[in-house]
Amino acid sequence: SRVMVLNGPNLGRLGSREPDVYGDQDLSALRVLLSEEAGEGVEIDLRQTDDEAELVHWLHEAVDAEAPVILNPAAFTHYSYALRDAAALVTKAGLPLVEVHISNPHAREAFRHTSVVSGVATGVIAGLGFDSYLLALEAVRRRLSAG
Ligand code: DQA
Repeated sequence: SRVMVLNGPNLGRLGSREPDVYGDQDLSALRVLLSEEAGEGVEIDLRQTDDEAELVHWLHEAVDAEAPVILNPAAFTHYSYALRDAAALVTKAGLPLVEVHISNPHAREAFRHTSVVSGVATGVIAGLGFDSYLLALEAVRRRLSAG
């Protein structure tokens, strides 16, 4: 089975972007960590885009492929109703969608305290660096094996 790990704007700059907030590892390091954790039989399909429309289309693709989703919506978290509606399509289809954040948005600027995505997500994991994704993968796997 395949797990889609979708990342929003500016996350392609991980490694050099605000390393005090986001750490010094990049997305290819994250792909390796997740693939190792996933092990045999689970394919990690990790993608990043700065484009809201592309991210919306990838969520449609998850619905059509019946793939669970780990989603870091980045700044779209805080204002994209289009992304929220697309995320709702995933969870309404009965597929898990775990919202993740590297940093803890609640410990940062006020505009980061609101997520328009969380209300339609299966669950939310934030503030644990790349462990947020690894824990989300664990949650997805437990759901896959349960159902
Ligand atoms: C983020 C938090 C968001 O507020 C921010 O816009 C990001 C990354 C995180 O992973 O901590 O781009 O989603």
